[in-house]
Amino acid sequence: MKHLLSVDDLTADAATAILDDAERLEQALLGREVRKLPTLRGRTVMTVFFEDSTRTRVSFEVAGKWMSADVINVGAKGSSASKGESLRDTVRTLHAAGADCLVVRHPASGAAHRIAAWGGASGPSVVNAGDGTHEHPTQALLDALTLRQRLGSLAGRRVVVVGDVLHSRVARSNAHLLATLGAEVVLVAPPTLLPIGVEQWPVSVAHHLDGELPGADAVMMLRVQAERMRGGFFPSAREYSISYGLSARRQALLGEDVPVLHPGPMVRGMEIASAVADSAQSAVLAQVRNGVHVRMAVLYQLLAGAEGVS
Ligand code: CP
Repeated sequence: MKHLLSVDDLTADAATAILDDAERLEQALLGREVRKLPTLRGRTVMTVFFEDSTRTRVSFEVAGKWMSADVINVGAKGSSASKGESLRDTVRTLHAAGADCLVVRHPASGAAHRIAAWGGASGPSVVNAGDGTHEHPTQALLDALTLRQRLGSLAGRRVVVVGDVLHSRVARSNAHLLATLGAEVVLVAPPTLLPIGVEQWPVSVAHHLDGELPGADAVMMLRVQAERMRGGFFPSAREYSISYGLSARRQALLGEDVPVLHPGPMVRGMEIASAVADSAQSAVLAQVRNGVHVRMAVLYQLLAGAEGVS
């Protein structure tokens, strides 16, 4: 695998191999006095983030450092992108400066694909760390790992994904990857927060959250992406919270062992009540921890040329 741009790049076997490698790499680090593996010594990973991030950028940096790669962080602010340099010139410059891998977050859907195409066969590996409203493949992989750990297997499991599907690259990547791994995905959203063409996704769609919770094996809440809502008829924060927020009352409709996921950052009190986010059912911090190990596995597979950790 040269790039990871979309979950469509992954068969069920390829995705499972990444999840297995993530768990093996986690095990390999356990009990070490110094949390470092020599695997990527001499490799240079550059995180190129043109949108803000806490979890994804930090976990890629930790992942690279724990495998001894040199990791350099580049942002729109502080780079010559702020002086009007084109994206193409920026990434060509970073490759010329020694990047073996570019981890890219960009507000434009398709940006990571463009960067990979510009590099051609001799260019750096590219990981899509979130492109506009399109895809966030490593988020879907870390969510799949979290669900596999909580549920044992994804096959036949009913995962209810709730909220702002329209603007969510997390929802799109999860819907496709979870279906590839055999899960049944139900999207629950108001009609104005569903994308055109959702009927072609491998999911079913519902609008009433209370009716979907009792049969769920897992619930994934989405962030409401206010920064992408320009025009359109979107519910107010109060309307959204009443109809789609995961309150303590709604949590009681779930089985006691049903995990609650959220990719973060959470808008507490609107998308999810604090009591739910901080409850034993919440998998939010497990998702973050798994994010480091999944991103280690992805960098390992792209840069160490390996089929799997043994
Ligand atoms: N889930 C996620 O992508 O979070 P960040 O925006 O903080 O990276």
